[in-house]
Amino acid sequence: MIFNELAIVESTEEIASNTFQTFLKSPKIAASIKPGQFINILPSEYWDKMMRRPMSVASQKDEVISIIYKVVGEGTELMQNWSLGDSVDLIGPLGNFWDGYADKLSILIGGGVGIAPILNLHNHLDELGEEKVLIMGARNSSEHFIDHNPENGVYMTTDDGSLGIHGNVLEPLKIALENIDIQNVKVFACGPPAMMEAVRQYSISEGIECDLALETLMACGFGICQGCTVEFEKKQKTTEHSYRNRFGLVCMDGPIFESKEIKSCHL
Ligand SMILES: Cc1cc2nc3c(=O)[nH]c(=O)nc-3n(C[C@H](O)[C@H](O)[C@H](O)COP(=O)(O)OP(=O)(O)OC[C@H]3O[C@@H](n4cnc5c(N)ncnc54)[C@H](O)[C@@H]3O)c2cc1C
Ligand code: FES
Repeated sequence: MIFNELAIVESTEEIASNTFQTFLKSPKIAASIKPGQFINILPSEYWDKMMRRPMSVASQKDEVISIIYKVVGEGTELMQNWSLGDSVDLIGPLGNFWDGYADKLSILIGGGVGIAPILNLHNHLDELGEEKVLIMGARNSSEHFIDHNPENGVYMTTDDGSLGIHGNVLEPLKIALENIDIQNVKVFACGPPAMMEAVRQYSISEGIECDLALETLMACGFGICQGCTVEFEKKQKTTEHSYRNRFGLVCMDGPIFESKEIKSCHL
C-alpha cells in the first residue's frame, strides 16, 4: 500500500561534506517500506514546482525513517533547512525492493549518496544475522562518514587515496570474492552511473548475481512522463505498447534491476 503521509522532522545533521541525514517521524511509511524502496518528497508546502523529489530511505526504526542527501539544487536546499517539528508531505513506499539475500554472502556497494538504500539493507541483514560485506566509494575522505574496517568486512575507497583503499569499489569487491564460491554471492549496488556500470560489467563477466538500484532523473515518479527510461537487454514479454517491451521505467519497474536485465547504467 502506498501512503501520503505528513511526516515530522526530528533532526538534521551534516554527516559528511555537503551530505545531510534527516530523521522524519513517519509511522506508516516506517512500518511498511522495504530496503531499496524510495519516497517522493514535497520539500515545502509553498514549493512552486510540479514535481516532488525522490529519495531512498536509509533507515527505518520505531516509526522513524531517515534520508541521506547531497544539496544539489532548490529541493535539497529546502530539505537541509527544515526545522525541528516541521511537517513534510511524503508519498511512499515506492518502487521495488532488494531481495534474494537469504543464505548468501551479500556484498553491498554504495557510491556517494547511493549509500542510503545500501545502509538500510545493511541494517536489515544485521537484524536477520545474514553474512555481508559493505563497500563504500567516494572521491575523498571528506565524503565518507563510515570507518574503514576491513577486519569486519567494511571497506572504504577513495579516488585520491585519502581514506581506505586508493581506487574504486572494484578493488575491495575482488578482495571480498577471494576464495569464495560465486554461486553463494550476491552483489547489491547503488551509486553514480560510472560506478554502477563498472559493477554491472564486472558482475556479468564473473557470473555473479547482481542487483542495481538506479537513481536516474525522475519527473512524475508514477509512470506518466516516461522521463526515467532504461533500455532492457532483451525484449520483455509485456502485452502493453511495443515501446514498453524495450524500455523499462525506473519509477515503476525499478529502481532495482538485475545487472543482466539492462543495457547500461548510463541513462
Ligand atoms: C529512486 C531515487 C532515489 C534517490 N535517492 C537519493 C538519495 O538517497 N539521496 C540523494 O541525495 N539523492 C537521491 N536521489 C537523487 C535526488 O532525487 C536528486 O538529487 C534531487 O531530486 C535533486 O533535487 P533538487 O531540487 O535539489 O535539485 P534540482 O534543481 O532538481 O537539480 C539540481 C542538479 O542536480 C541534478 N540532478 C537532479 N537529480 C539528479 C539525479 N537523480 N542524478 C544526478 N543528478 C541529478 C540536476 O540535473 C541538476 O543539475 C534519488 C533519485 C532517485 C530517482
Ligand atoms: S518519472 Fe515519470 S515515468 Fe518515471
